[in-house]
Amino acid sequence: MTPPDFDPNGNRIGGGIGCNTCHVAPEFDIDPNSLNNGVIDLINSANEDLTLTHSPTLRDLVKPNGDANGATMHSAISSNRNAILNHYNNGIVANANLDPRLTGPPGPNGPAIQNLQLSQQERTQVIAFLETLSGTDVDTNQKWSDPFIN
Ligand code: HEC
Repeated sequence: MTPPDFDPNGNRIGGGIGCNTCHVAPEFDIDPNSLNNGVIDLINSANEDLTLTHSPTLRDLVKPNGDANGATMHSAISSNRNAILNHYNNGIVANANLDPRLTGPPGPNGPAIQNLQLSQQERTQVIAFLETLSGTDVDTNQKWSDPFIN
């Protein structure tokens, strides 16, 4: 929920991992002002497209039975939840349109790219949380109306 906090050497010393700053609760959907998230795969074009930047909802990444719903990102790079976390952990590709929320502490050459240094426990917890955002009645059942109350 909260942005990560880095020391000047880029070590994460607190905060969260910041997903909610772009994928905004309760729908974990678009922040209309998000920029590129470091995915710059080519689709049907010879040129990198850095303008496909709207963060989609994180709901229904998986089917109610836990299987992936489909490949993610505009270029459909992966349906693997660990691979998605690898991207945000230390796989972000620098580019001219990169959202500043994905940078680390500023160095002599400008802001560094974030390295979240996710622990195995954090990965397990974030993936488990993402999997709670699916269901057959997730948009209609009162029970799911507030993801922060059980
Ligand atoms: C700076 C804003 C930003 C932050 C922070 C961010 N994302 Fe994203 N996210 C995006 C954008 C933009 C896309 C769309 C990229 C694309 O389509 O290529 C996206 C796409 C995704 C997708 C693919 C969704 C789909 O259906 O294709 C997943 C999953 C995802 N983000 C998970 C996360 C997680 C987990 C975190 C936290 C570790 C996170 N994001 C942090 C902006 C952000």
